[in-house]
Amino acid sequence: MTPMTSPESAARFRHSPRRQYYRGGNLDRVRAVEDLRARAHKLMPRLVLEYLEAGAGSEATLDREREAFAEWRFLPHTLVDESHRSTERELLGRTAAMPLAIAPTGLNGLFRYHADTMLAKGAARFGVPFIQSTMSNDPMEEVGKVPGLRHWWQLYVFGGEEIWQELLRRADAAGCEALVLTTNSQIFGDREWSDRTRTATGGPTLASIFDAARHPRWMVAALRHGLPRFANVLDFIPKDQRGFFESAHWIRSQMPRDLSWNDVARIRSRWKKPMFLKGLLNLEDVRRARDSGVDGIMLGSHGGRQMDWAASALDILAPAREIVGESVALYMSGGIRHGTDILKALLLGADAVLSGRATLYGLCAAGADGVTCALETLRRQMLNEMGQLGVSSLDALSAEVMVRREKLPVALAS
Ligand SMILES: Cc1cc2nc3c(=O)[nH]c(=O)nc-3n(C[C@H](O)[C@H](O)[C@H](O)COP(=O)(O)O)c2cc1C
Repeated sequence: MTPMTSPESAARFRHSPRRQYYRGGNLDRVRAVEDLRARAHKLMPRLVLEYLEAGAGSEATLDREREAFAEWRFLPHTLVDESHRSTERELLGRTAAMPLAIAPTGLNGLFRYHADTMLAKGAARFGVPFIQSTMSNDPMEEVGKVPGLRHWWQLYVFGGEEIWQELLRRADAAGCEALVLTTNSQIFGDREWSDRTRTATGGPTLASIFDAARHPRWMVAALRHGLPRFANVLDFIPKDQRGFFESAHWIRSQMPRDLSWNDVARIRSRWKKPMFLKGLLNLEDVRRARDSGVDGIMLGSHGGRQMDWAASALDILAPAREIVGESVALYMSGGIRHGTDILKALLLGADAVLSGRATLYGLCAAGADGVTCALETLRRQMLNEMGQLGVSSLDALSAEVMVRREKLPVALAS
């Protein structure tokens, strides 16, 4: 797979010589998340890469998530004191190094052994929360021991009520600070590219096995440690279905298709700490969520992996902010690859963003150090662009420094 260019960089590079991202292992040479992605593409076999990258159906949503950022341009102020700049912001009342949390992602053990712990270490070192998925591979109690970690737990509802009750009890006991209930995945997305790497029964195709053999580092680790297990939910899975592919299939088959606002209310009353609803993309749902007693909403399309031809979270951020006002926290996910993406999301009304693939590229490239490197890269880009923009703190961002591309050239409004 050749690394994609973002819509912005396609414009920038049109008249430039042919260029390549850095694919080596020296993190000091990483200039952009795309370098980590290029390294990840070098190290990971196709089976794993398609799981990481593939969107649903024709991948129109995945495409939109990047394209949406390219529709906004900055109008920078000059002659402003930019000597001290900070990307810090309070998340749930505590200072985070950046307005970002690492998104919940399942099956991380496919990328590296103990990948969930590596993501947690990268996040803790840098100073942002890590959201652990129900479909993660390291036990939440082990991840919770990472020093300095702000640990949030993401819940997929599957099976009977006793399962989510037990998962919430354990998450609370493991010290999780917040709960993130994912609402848009009760029907699994139609990820045809990922499916093509596997046979009808779920195992890898022969071509995928040959391809994996051509990625010796990944293959040696996979042979040494075996395929990952769903450590947090294994006890709920029937004994004869506990293999990797079988358990993933079984859990999906147990997701109630009729998850509803009543379930949200029941989970809300059971979980006493802050709670977010994740995966909203409709303004009427945003209104209901605001009134449902949750503390925050995470807009997004699951990284383009669920519905094809959906809007991106960025498209609905501004009206969503109008609906919720300051009553609940508003986060967005989808397509964050550069510090400017975070600034654009904040300017449109987000309190914070989630990073899915950007930090996973770091993980694939270099484990926990790669995760921290991805976060540091985003922060470096943010700090630079804040200086270019003429703002020294995130609270000083004001909407007038950004305009939709089609509104250029700018007319005098009044
Ligand atoms: C490999 C992968 C696995 C994911 N697994 C989950 C999951 O288990 N639970 C969940 O709520 N979201 C999951 N997501 C969605 C992410 O939480 C997030 O919304 C998305 O990755 C954001 O888009 P980005 O990858 O462009 O940053 C997953 C995304 C990816 C890429």
